[in-house]
Amino acid sequence: MIDVAIIIGSTRPGRNGEAVARWIHDLAAERDDARFELVDLKDFGLPHLDEAMPPAMGRRDLPHTRRWADKIASFDAYVFVTPEYNHSISGALKDAIDFLYGEWHNKAAGFVGYGSVGGTRAVEHLRLIMGELKVAGVGAQVALFLGSDFENFGTFKPAAHRVHAATAMLDEVVAWGGALKALRDGTMAART
Ligand SMILES: Cc1cc2nc3c(=O)[nH]c(=O)nc-3n(C[C@H](O)[C@H](O)[C@H](O)COP(=O)(O)O)c2cc1C
Repeated sequence: MIDVAIIIGSTRPGRNGEAVARWIHDLAAERDDARFELVDLKDFGLPHLDEAMPPAMGRRDLPHTRRWADKIASFDAYVFVTPEYNHSISGALKDAIDFLYGEWHNKAAGFVGYGSVGGTRAVEHLRLIMGELKVAGVGAQVALFLGSDFENFGTFKPAAHRVHAATAMLDEVVAWGGALKALRDGTMAART
């Protein structure tokens, strides 16, 4: 069975992201095909990237980097719950991604975006970033609209049919996460 992180991509006080991530986690918790864990960037207190060596060199010198690296390395797949800030992801999420390198490689990811048009532009950016880190982004995606999935833009009340999109995304994350775990375990040929 694989382990999947549900990453809250916003650290803002009063953020909508926490309610969205908890909704995804509640849906995921009903499944028996993977283990799911909420990972809150706020709990890691990461500064702007402050490692002297580029992450691709493999050194993890600072305690906050090692703690974050150990957490991310422990998962087979990720669900990114991302806000849209100026048509992209939050600076906090970009920094957290940039801290690491090999910890992300050959894993799967699903995307849950939210914003005025479903966070779709942020997710498009995130898909490009994940491509550079050898993370396979699944096609099924959850797009939550501030005007219709939130009351007064701040109380999360997802439309009923969003459950279907979330389930399809989780199905693909579990399937691809398992396939890529086999690749990392060496039961499939891999060139990394
Ligand atoms: C700095 C900033 C920039 C934003 N830019 C966009 C944007 O480009 N497109 C969009 O749809 N919403 C934008 N929004 C609205 C956010 O999507 C909305 O506030 C969302 O709830 C933010 O996520 P959070 O509450 O989890 O931090 C922006 C919000 C902030 C704070």
